Amino acid sequence: MEIGIDKIGMYTPNQYVDLVELAIHRKIDPDKFTIGIGQDKMAVAPLSQDTISMAANAAAQILSDADKAAIDLVILGTESGVDNSKAGALYVQRLLGISNKARVLEIKEACYGATAGLQFAKLHIAQNPKAKALVIGSDIARYGLDTSGEVTQGAGAVALLVAANPRILALDMRSAYYSSEINDFWRPLDQLIAEVDGKYSNEAYIKFFQMVFEDYQQQTGYQLSDFAAMVFHLPYTKMGLKALRKVLDQTDAAHQDSLQQHYQQSTLYSRRIGNIYTGSLYLAFLSLINNDMTLQPGMRIGLYSYGSGAVGEFFSGTLQGNYLDMLDPMHYLEMFENRTKLSIAEYEAQFKKQLTPGIEAQKLITTDLNAPYYFAGIQAKQRQYKAGAKSV
Ligand code: COA
Repeated sequence: MEIGIDKIGMYTPNQYVDLVELAIHRKIDPDKFTIGIGQDKMAVAPLSQDTISMAANAAAQILSDADKAAIDLVILGTESGVDNSKAGALYVQRLLGISNKARVLEIKEACYGATAGLQFAKLHIAQNPKAKALVIGSDIARYGLDTSGEVTQGAGAVALLVAANPRILALDMRSAYYSSEINDFWRPLDQLIAEVDGKYSNEAYIKFFQMVFEDYQQQTGYQLSDFAAMVFHLPYTKMGLKALRKVLDQTDAAHQDSLQQHYQQSTLYSRRIGNIYTGSLYLAFLSLINNDMTLQPGMRIGLYSYGSGAVGEFFSGTLQGNYLDMLDPMHYLEMFENRTKLSIAEYEAQFKKQLTPGIEAQKLITTDLNAPYYFAGIQAKQRQYKAGAKSV
């Protein structure tokens, strides 16, 4: 029995900062951001979009009523969750009308959380072939104004429907993983902004990739030449390329070119959105399959997940026969075209407002008329979520 990704949906907030403008404002050469880092725009979440509403918006796009009845596992991977106890996935379950006969939980391990959820879901479906699982990665990445990490901020969510006989990507059962307690990125409980040792995180990302890719090759006998494309967790689009280059000499020149061309297609969405932490690997996968018209069913795609702290995992899957029928690339082009560009002053004002503590009794209105759900504020210490104009 094949198990894997049957549907995939994505949501990103409807406002962004142009990174050339940000570079000029910060007195930095714009080429550093667009070439050295590989980012053009960064999504900015308004107060009315948090990890829960973004997760619901990503999932709302793909779930049918039959899916909602069949789902018996909902997992939210996030590292910017809104409650220290309650799983954000419970709000998503209620908002979307997913069956109550479901296990519902949240997973945290930096940007790796959604991959842990996907592997959990795969094993769950192996034991319950008629069930479906919803796995979502949803995050707002914040490093702070005028920090070296600022250019790698972003916001968004990716939702995966995991099922038997998947129509997009069948996952192999084997995967290779490695973990080690390190301090490359972390966020103490009393902070809204992460602590990061950026250079160390780059090194760890690459080292973990080399280890798990080698382990995977030993486990499976696959060579680099068996992979049509490799997709990476993308904190910024140059990062995955740095890792890919470490193994490129394992294959011939023509295949090296091909892997790098596919890689560029996998970065198109991240270039316009930025880092969405847990969802970033799956955003790269969505970008690849939506934009790369040279892919064919049956091709093997490798996926590298990395969460600081740190855990790395490499796994792979094969594209399914009619995977193109399951996609809606126009939807994302419209989503990008309908975004509003913030001036640097507007972005900075919003960023500071987000960091103001104590929003008790604050009511919010939605600023994204195309978003099915939004965060409406806090009443009696309880978070309020509402359906927007385009609720489904
Ligand atoms: N034109 C073109 N490229 C330029 C440039 C210019 N004018 N100026 C600098 N660059 C290049 C640098 O050569 C470097 O390229 P390289 O990495 O291929 O060597 C790149 O731009 C970044 O420059 P650097 O000086 O290293 O940037 P930085 O000190 O500002 O930090 C990060 C970059 C990614 C470490 C920082 O943004 C960060 O900490 N981000 C958050 C953590 C993160 O994303 N970690 C990833 C693993 S999870």
